[in-house]
Amino acid sequence: MKLNPKNRIFLAPMEEVNDIAFRLLCKKAGAGLNYSPMIHPKTQKEIHLQDKPVLQLFCGKKDADSISAFMKKYDSKVSAWDFNLGCPAKTAKKHCFGVFLNSDLKTIEKILKLMGENTKKPVMIKLRKSSYTIKIIKIANKYCDAVAIHPRTQSQGYSGEPDIKFAESLKKYTKLPIIYSGNVDETNYTKFLKKFDFVMIGRKAIGNPNIFSEITNKKNYKKITFADYLKLASQYNFPFRQLKFQAMQFTKGLKNGKSLRLKIFEVKDEKELRKFAKQEDF
Ligand SMILES: Cc1cc2nc3c(=O)[nH]c(=O)nc-3n(C[C@H](O)[C@H](O)[C@H](O)COP(=O)(O)O)c2cc1C
Repeated sequence: MKLNPKNRIFLAPMEEVNDIAFRLLCKKAGAGLNYSPMIHPKTQKEIHLQDKPVLQLFCGKKDADSISAFMKKYDSKVSAWDFNLGCPAKTAKKHCFGVFLNSDLKTIEKILKLMGENTKKPVMIKLRKSSYTIKIIKIANKYCDAVAIHPRTQSQGYSGEPDIKFAESLKKYTKLPIIYSGNVDETNYTKFLKKFDFVMIGRKAIGNPNIFSEITNKKNYKKITFADYLKLASQYNFPFRQLKFQAMQFTKGLKNGKSLRLKIFEVKDEKELRKFAKQEDF
């Protein structure tokens, strides 16, 4: 099955950032497809899928079997499924998932096969640059419908230059659509779209769903603010710390951002935050 998004510019998966209220705003602003943050198939957390996202899974070898039940439960509510093979965090190292699962090609093949058996929706993977990337792509050719590449290594984390040439070279090994991730923004997306089938935007969208309107609806859009986020978030019972986290993000890049952050830092509860969001324009 083919991926059939609204346009070729997606919201990248981001833990903490991509809660449902934020994702709904990105969708409204024009993101062609949203990714959920990475989710473990044994999670006990409530999962919100009102934006019909690509639901991204992560797990290690021991939990591979829990994928089937999880996918059956949520399959009707997602646009596609993704498997995370790129997380570089310390916890990923400890529990051997994300980029640290890359050397276990047998488990990767088992998981992708299982994913394919449990859905008729597209199945995808998200990779980093590693010595296993090409081997994994060869497995993906058998089971997947698209491949996302963030061409930084595990040790680079999120800094340093992404290796765009490496990402392009993957076309030699696959005919699957390639979704590119790494430093995409409103100034360079057209350049990336000439090289790749799709792009995803990560950090430049944090606190800034408007980046999708700037790109997809240049002339005619109403600026989305933190007050819009709060309005949506009120439907979902988020903890106060999540609201405060997002408030901080929405101030980034503003002229008075620093002073707003200092004030938000002092805000003690949701009621106070709502009042603040009404007073200030951010
Ligand atoms: C705060 C944060 C959380 C992230 N969480 C995930 C995640 O859950 N799954 C994933 O595949 N990538 C995750 N990423 C990586 C992004 O999806 C993206 O590949 C990376 O940030 C490079 O794109 P950018 O330069 O547009 O930010 C995360 C990145 C950031 C900054």
